[in-house]
Amino acid sequence: MKDIFGKALLDYFSGDFTVNIVTSTNISDDDELPLAYLFREYKDMSKLEQKALHLAKGKVLDVGCGAGSHSLYLQNKGLDVKAIDVSEGAVEVTQKRGVKNASLTSILDETETFDTILLMMNGTGIFQELSKTPHYLKHLKSLLNPDGQILIDSTDIKYMYEDDDGGYWQDMHANYYGELDYLLSYKGEEAPLTTWLYLDFNTLLTACKSVGLNCELVMEGEHYDYLARIF
Ligand SMILES: C[S@@+](CC[C@H](N)C(=O)[O-])C[C@H]1O[C@@H](n2cnc3c(N)ncnc32)[C@H](O)[C@@H]1O
Repeated sequence: MKDIFGKALLDYFSGDFTVNIVTSTNISDDDELPLAYLFREYKDMSKLEQKALHLAKGKVLDVGCGAGSHSLYLQNKGLDVKAIDVSEGAVEVTQKRGVKNASLTSILDETETFDTILLMMNGTGIFQELSKTPHYLKHLKSLLNPDGQILIDSTDIKYMYEDDDGGYWQDMHANYYGELDYLLSYKGEEAPLTTWLYLDFNTLLTACKSVGLNCELVMEGEHYDYLARIF
């Protein structure tokens, strides 16, 4: 599979920045994802991400590490961190930035156990579809040490369906409104279409309960986003 995302990260890391990644979904037009954002330092992270980093403890798994920004911060704080991603370029950049334990692994293939599992920048996206969420949660649960926790962020994107008179235009027969077809392109190349899941807190809570996990709302962000702690 073409690793367009990884190519963009590698270009940026090697100082060859010319353009940003462009993303679009079935309900939104083209939008730029600034590459610099994926290389953000602690001071440039949202309050929600900073909170997640404060709560992280013990042995940490950073799932979908991207350029490794959260892993790097936690490793520098002295925590034992493993970063995983399905993008070869992302893992290479994470290693080159100094993260000692970064591996090309999909979350469903991970087998070690951890005290904290971190899923940041719409962490529920990795679940792809609401129907697959219990399966991912069950697997994450199997990777938790006793007293372990999952720190995950997402956004209730219901606002994206609001029309000018304050009503909602959702198709009642469509799938869950947070399931989006997601297209990513970089320098004229397109990555294969994927599904990316945004989960509102109550739906995440229900999915957690269905697999015997507790879920609490840690913090709400400035734009319908939130951080949850699952244990
Ligand atoms: C939106 S990026 C987030 C990057 C990083 N967490 C951050 O906050 O900057 C999502 C990342 O998840 C990775 N990813 C997608 N599916 C995955 C899976 N099944 N297992 C591990 N990583 C995955 C993607 O390759 C991408 O790097």
